[in-house]
Amino acid sequence: MTRLSVNINKVATLRNARGGDVPNVVKVALDCEKFGADGITVHPRPDERHIRKSDVYDLRPLLHTEFNTEGYPAPEFIDLVLKVKPHQVTLVPDSPAQLTSNAGWDTKKNQAFLTEVLEEFNNAGIRTSVFVSTDTEMIEYAAKAGADRVELYTEPYATAYPQGEEAAVAPFVEAAKIARGLGLGLNAGHDLSLVNLNYFYKNIPWLDEVSIGHALICDALYLGLERTIQEYKNCLR
Ligand code: PXP
Repeated sequence: MTRLSVNINKVATLRNARGGDVPNVVKVALDCEKFGADGITVHPRPDERHIRKSDVYDLRPLLHTEFNTEGYPAPEFIDLVLKVKPHQVTLVPDSPAQLTSNAGWDTKKNQAFLTEVLEEFNNAGIRTSVFVSTDTEMIEYAAKAGADRVELYTEPYATAYPQGEEAAVAPFVEAAKIARGLGLGLNAGHDLSLVNLNYFYKNIPWLDEVSIGHALICDALYLGLERTIQEYKNCLR
């Protein structure tokens, strides 16, 4: 089974636009679970422009499904994750001002740093995932650094998909096989949508998890949250 983890950053962005508590991030997360999501993802950033640290603390005891916290492992983030102890932490190499994650780690160059950080999380019993491109070497060094899983950065797949789905997915199938051969679990995320998700899943059915935010929340404007989540789940069958 491939799990659907709903990234609720956009919900927090909407809330923050007015400074109040509408929509309530915890309620939306619990409703996502009720409607069939298998997990909730948050990406707290240092400027708290969407998910705040307090959201991460609020969500942890109330969620019934898997909680994935992703972000750049700066000391403040590491401290938050070690305190909150989500089921999974996903390490992303984004700088504080970045609009959204737009690349995987250079796991070779950052091997010593990643090894140290991953060990800290592994010792705390938190499953670890490292955001990477489809580059074989990046996946190999993620394994060497001690990651439990890799998350494939799927933006290049989503962008290439309209020009030809087979060519778009081919490097991801290869990368997924390499990860499997190394004994790594496999996640994927970024720009996955109702248009491209099912084809990705059909080609890599051993995917452990997809983490989807932007397109899913946009679809919910038209379809409603319940139907949207069910449609994304249908893409994973
Ligand atoms: N995975 C990671 C590591 C991300 O940073 C993001 C965006 O926050 C996602 C998945 C979800 O991407 P999208 O919002 O395009 O679905």
